[in-house]
Amino acid sequence: MRQILFFSNNKNKVIEIKKIFKKFNLKLLSLSDINIDDEPEESGQTFEENAKIKSDYGFEKTGIPCFADDSGICIETLNWKPGVLSKRFLNNFKSNEACFKNIIKSTKKNSKKIAYFKTSISLTTKKGQNVIFNGQIDGKISDEAKGRFGFGYDPIFIPKFYKKTLAELSSKEKNEISHRSIAVTKLINFLSN
Ligand code: IMP
Repeated sequence: MRQILFFSNNKNKVIEIKKIFKKFNLKLLSLSDINIDDEPEESGQTFEENAKIKSDYGFEKTGIPCFADDSGICIETLNWKPGVLSKRFLNNFKSNEACFKNIIKSTKKNSKKIAYFKTSISLTTKKGQNVIFNGQIDGKISDEAKGRFGFGYDPIFIPKFYKKTLAELSSKEKNEISHRSIAVTKLINFLSN
């Protein structure tokens, strides 16, 4: 059976991706299966660059075809930031609620409500050879933080054509429309062709 390595230390992502790969004739390995615990510095300016840094690193260390992802939120009122710094931006506040208040205040002040989440997946199959799969979900920042599902910025993001925030949707509903699932679906289509 063909093997593929998912370069991520995020246990929840690994579980989710392993579930998806069960249907395919591919053995999915994660970093814990091959005892890699170091990660390269995510020094890229874009999601694509950071995903490539990780998938190249995994391939170079193991020789196994490797994919990695990088995601975040881009918010109009913050000049389309925090982008690749999404995790750090949230962690710089004393709580998620404080971060959400700050974003909502800025959104209301200048009526710039648009936001989107983006995921880039990079798959490295040979030295110097990688393919990128992107997924994006468009939407807007809500007037207040709502919902208890999901993670990160989900409570303040309302997808286009929806009235609820991502944190008010079940994980099944979110997975049907999310940036991550769009990018993963493109990867799977590529691998099964
Ligand atoms: P990662 O690269 O997928 O680990 O995402 C980096 C950061 O972006 C996360 O720590 C979250 O703050 C934010 N983020 C990415 N995807 C989502 C999502 O689906 N919902 C909410 N926040 C997200």
